[in-house]
Amino acid sequence: MYTPLYEKITDALVKEGYVVLEDFLDEESYKKISLDAKSETLYKAAGISAASSLHQDRNRRRDKIVWLEDSKDSGGIFLEFARGLQKYLNRSLYLGLSYYEAHFALYEKGDFYEKHLDAFKGSKNRVVTTVYYLNETWSKEDGGELLIYDEEDKFLREVIPKANTFVLFLSDKFPHEVLAAKKKRYSIAGWFRIDKRES
Ligand code: OGA
Ligand code: MN
Repeated sequence: MYTPLYEKITDALVKEGYVVLEDFLDEESYKKISLDAKSETLYKAAGISAASSLHQDRNRRRDKIVWLEDSKDSGGIFLEFARGLQKYLNRSLYLGLSYYEAHFALYEKGDFYEKHLDAFKGSKNRVVTTVYYLNETWSKEDGGELLIYDEEDKFLREVIPKANTFVLFLSDKFPHEVLAAKKKRYSIAGWFRIDKRES
């Protein structure tokens, strides 16, 4: 069902290493995911080091997160999409992705995420990053832009975190940052990995 999207993403990944797609999922799927994000009450401060929340540093990162679950509408839809993509990428590009993890993120007024890479060069754990935005009303004045840079740290692209916009990039090649949001900003950040799952 998602094959045309998978093809588009794969082509862009090969050609550019990243892609930004608007009006990404069908309206109904989007609405269910967005509703789950906003009715979730268990958002907790995010950590800096990959799988743990022990390493919190409010100077670098201020979002709060909650991991997606298969048992909810959002997890059922989004994780199914992502696992299909994982298979497609493995078959077409031999990436050997072993699993996908994803969390909702909530940036409240003033929250940001300093420029960073999702994976360190050479350390192969997070291979491909995805971000999916869940904000129905968002304009330039609301801040919270995602800024993407290239490998030489040259500015590449600004993404407004508008409803149903999807971003994907190679985790070790594109430094990126989230500018301070001026109101609540909802998204799903996810990663395809090639190591073993911890739990
Ligand atoms: C992240 C991240 C970008 C965004 O969670 O690692 O960079 O736009 N998120 O939310
Ligand atoms: Mn990131």
